[in-house]
Amino acid sequence: MARRITVLGTGYLGATHAACMAELGFEVLGVDVDPGRIEALAAGRLPFYEPGLEPLLARGLRSGRLRFTTSFADAADFGDVHFCCVGTPQRAGSGGADLSQLFSCIDTLAPLLRRPSLIVGKSTVPAGTAAILAERLARLVSPGVTAELAWNPEFLREGHAVADTLRPERIVVGVRSAAAEAVLRDVYAGPLADGVPLVVTDFATAELVKVAANAFLATKISFINAMAEVCEVADADVTMLAQALSYDHRIGGAGMRPGLGFGGGCLPKDIRAFMTRAEELGAGESVSFLRQVDAINIRRRARMVTLAQDLAGGAVDGRQVGVLGLAFKPDSDDIRDSPAIDVATALHGLGARVVAYDPAGTANAQRGHPELEYATSLLGAAADADVLLVLTEWAEFRDADPEVIGKAVAQRAIADGRHALDPAAWRAAGWTYRALGRPAG
Ligand code: UDX
Repeated sequence: MARRITVLGTGYLGATHAACMAELGFEVLGVDVDPGRIEALAAGRLPFYEPGLEPLLARGLRSGRLRFTTSFADAADFGDVHFCCVGTPQRAGSGGADLSQLFSCIDTLAPLLRRPSLIVGKSTVPAGTAAILAERLARLVSPGVTAELAWNPEFLREGHAVADTLRPERIVVGVRSAAAEAVLRDVYAGPLADGVPLVVTDFATAELVKVAANAFLATKISFINAMAEVCEVADADVTMLAQALSYDHRIGGAGMRPGLGFGGGCLPKDIRAFMTRAEELGAGESVSFLRQVDAINIRRRARMVTLAQDLAGGAVDGRQVGVLGLAFKPDSDDIRDSPAIDVATALHGLGARVVAYDPAGTANAQRGHPELEYATSLLGAAADADVLLVLTEWAEFRDADPEVIGKAVAQRAIADGRHALDPAAWRAAGWTYRALGRPAG
């Protein structure tokens, strides 16, 4: 009989994992402590924006293979394999990770287990966490119940979550027994048969693969953004520099797009948690370069504010700024640590009237930032603007017609924080076009 799977925590990661496991043919129970979220998912509504996920959710629900509950007791009764997908956000007042949701997940589930179970952690955690959780699990399960822990980091990107889950670039599992490895090989039999590489390793290595990957990705982005800073003072063009670098296969171009830098629920907090953990372990110096990676990234936001001020003639006080994009990246409604939100609120703080538009992120932004004004269309945000800013590279902004937008604004001045637009086309339509790391033109 096919193994039965529970997914504990139904955020971006968990909801995607649950729907994809049902798509792969498993019986799946998604579990969350938030009844509103569970109600929405059970009704086929995604509580966040993720292209391609809703049809999978609908298919899973229709087939009867995918169900949702708030009951950990039901989860314990149902599952053979329990995937832990809860959040590990940045701890308030420190760079370290807040592991409370993970601990509470194990503490609640473990005493309820009555059948042989494999608990599989997918959350991003500091090295050493899995060992602590394994010990806690062993202490909390009832006598006679076999329950084991494994670590299986998740690498999905928002906006590509379904493809990244069904056809990941690699599967990494940290295990302590051949039995645990066998269960995970079985769960991932589909992708493995398609040739997805599998790395079987220990807990600490599995944990570190995830943070090392995110540290590398963040470093690549900050590297090219540091070059953008140099380009600005040398009157060079970072987009051409990046293109020329990309032809060297040792460097490559993927994940090295210059611009406003990285945000979201992963890269910023993961590099900070990594630095904190490495310091605790006595290897702080080894990753101290990540402090620079973080600083370069944050400087991009300040530089964008300066560009907006330049375009407004020196100060934005009393001027109207149209902001295009609020999500931390396109095809997402996620505004966690979004560079766009930082820039928009900084300009508001400097006295600008900020009118923002995002195809998916507006509702989330409105909740956290009622001080900004929100438009329901690109043209609405552009109307009467003295300066227009592109802060997230949605296709809708890339495809915008500079002539049409030009008729809406008070002044044809645009700063492109994501190198999303064709400068020649916008300049030809009479716009003053500025971008990070490119000559003023
Ligand atoms: C990231 C990792 O890619 C993923 O493997 C991990 O599981 C979670 O963290 P995600 O946060 O969804 O995924 O987004 P990603 O596509 O990596 O982008 C992160 C940020 O970097 C975004 O703000 C994006 O705009 C920015 N970015 C990305 C750049 O500025 N330049 C790039 O070349 C790529």
